[in-house]
Formats: sequence, structure tokens, C-alpha cells
Amino acid sequence: MSHKQLVLSGMQPTNTLHLGNYLGALKNWVKMQDQMPCLFCVVDMHAITADAGYGQPAELTRSTREVAAAYIAGGVDPKRSPIFNQGQVPEHGELAWVFNCVARLGWLDRMTQFKEKSGKHKERASVGLYTYPVLMAADILVYRATHVPVGEDQKQHLELARDIAAKFNNDFGVPDFFPQPEPVITGSGTRVMSLRDGSKKMSKSDESDNSRINLTDDADMIADKIRRAKTDPHPLPGPKDELAGRPEAENLLNIYAALADQDRDKVIIDFAGQNFSTFKSALADLTVARLEPITREMRRLLADPAEIDRVLKDGAQKARAIATPIMDEVKKTVGFII
Ligand code: TRP
Repeated sequence: MSHKQLVLSGMQPTNTLHLGNYLGALKNWVKMQDQMPCLFCVVDMHAITADAGYGQPAELTRSTREVAAAYIAGGVDPKRSPIFNQGQVPEHGELAWVFNCVARLGWLDRMTQFKEKSGKHKERASVGLYTYPVLMAADILVYRATHVPVGEDQKQHLELARDIAAKFNNDFGVPDFFPQPEPVITGSGTRVMSLRDGSKKMSKSDESDNSRINLTDDADMIADKIRRAKTDPHPLPGPKDELAGRPEAENLLNIYAALADQDRDKVIIDFAGQNFSTFKSALADLTVARLEPITREMRRLLADPAEIDRVLKDGAQKARAIATPIMDEVKKTVGFII
């Protein structure tokens, strides 16, 4: 049996979204809507595994709306692609419990993200943080989603989802019950690096706000951060010059290419040999031109939370219409009376 193609992805509502989230994820999701049916989730249940999302209900609610607003403002069309928060679709948690019993401790012990996030004191980490990848597998498989756009760093979690799907199918004697979801590692803009250090990913947790462009920054802030971005003392490279060892130059060129929807080679030809100040002002103009309509729409949406909440509720209903029958099948397959 082959499974119908379906895309599912999600972002965590913790802190603010930045250019890396837009170029690395959202921009690609918007394109995928034309290729396959899509579902886009705001993973509020994952957010409470992090300090930033735990014990701060007002902040979590605000952040959930902000991420939903970014999806919409960035071009996800909620009429075609349901947008919902995980917490409104109880089937995620239900399937996650079953999957907790499918996944093996040894599998989870290998998860590098847990090791990084829990640090030296594993015994103080929450059980939720440990079992985070199991919930992620449930997010995907509760819809039998087949394609999952994610960054490089989530590949291991997707491998785990595939292992869980295969073990469930095998242990309950239901071959093909769950598909093997495929990661879709997203395009050229995927790795947007810090503006202060071209070897580190642009991150919401970096203590320097100048290291990232937030989707809530206004035009002046964006231009200012680009002007201050770290560079090296050389002019921009020509087509035959090496970019190796010039991570900041590479990052700014990648950002330009992704925002302009051009090949990086073309951008290099256009700016070959110029100094950074010329390039940075072109990049600032481009970034503002591309982000301004999005941030303006986000601000408009956030001024009326009721509208966002309606989108989320409607999305959750559509998501549940897919998830409930699958979850019923899971329950019967496991032997629960329903
Ligand atoms: N773990 C993902 C991240 O940090 C977020 C996520 C949760 C997700 N559930 C998902 C992504 C399901 C794709 C599909 O980026």
C-alpha cells in the first residue's frame, strides 16, 4: 500500500522568530503548498519542554500566536493548509503515549539534541525533554504524513520517527499501517548564520540581539544590524575566488541569494570585487523590502488575537478530522476498547 502524500511541519513557540526561521523553513513551506497538501503546526506541547516555554503561560500563549501570525504573514494560506496548535489536537498526545511504549530507551539515549539540551545534569532534565522526539514522531504519524520539511538538526529525530513507525507496523502485525516519513531538507537558505559570527547558526537564544534579524524588527533595526554585521577586511570575492575561511562573507551572500531567489553564483558575479559597505546597503534594502510586508502583516494580525485564535481553532478542527479516524485505528490495533 502506498500512502497519500502529505506534508507536515512545525515550529516551536519560544521567543521570537528570526530570518533563519523564515529563509530556512517558512519560505519553503509556502512553496510546498503548491506541490502537496500540507499541515502546519505550532508545537506548543514541545515548547513546555524548554525553560522558555514552561511555567509562563501568558508568554507561551503570546508566542503561539506570534508563530501562527508568522505562518500566515509569511504566505501559508490557512484555507489550503490548516494552521493549528498541537495542544488543541489531543490525538498528538494520545499517539505519543503509544509511541512511548514502542520506542526503546536505547534509541532515545542516542539523541544528540537531548544530550546538548540536558547538558551535564541529565537527571535534572524533564522527562518531557527526553521523550520530545517521540511526541514529534506522533505529530507526523498521527496524520500519516509522508514528507517533513526540517532543518539538518532534525534529521536524527526523523530517523527515530521512521524506526518507531516500522516497529509499530511490525510488532502489531500491520505492515504499511504507518508510512516512512521522509525529511525534506530545505534549500539554499537553510543555514542562516549569526551576523556576529559566521560559524554559528542564527539563533533565538544568542544573547546578542545584533546577531539576528527578528521578524518583529522594524526597517531601521534591520538596516542597522546588517550595517554592523561582522565581515572580513577583503573585498567581496569574484567567481573564481575562494569562500572557504570567509564564513561571514559566505553567510551574507547566502542571505542575499535566498532573499532575491537567485543562485549564489549570480550574486557573486554581481558584487565581485566590491567592498562590503556597498554590498551591505544593497542587502539591507533587499531584506527590508522582503521582510517589511511580512512584519507589517504580523503586526496587524497580532493586534487582533481573536482572528488568529479563529484560524487556529479552524485548523485544529480540520487536523482532527484527519487524525481522529487514524487514532481510532491505532486504538483498535493496540487492543483498546473504543
Ligand atoms: N523539533 C522541531 C524543531 O525544533 C519542531 C517540531 C516538532 C517538528 N514537531 C515536529 C518539525 C513535526 C516537523 C514535524 O525544529
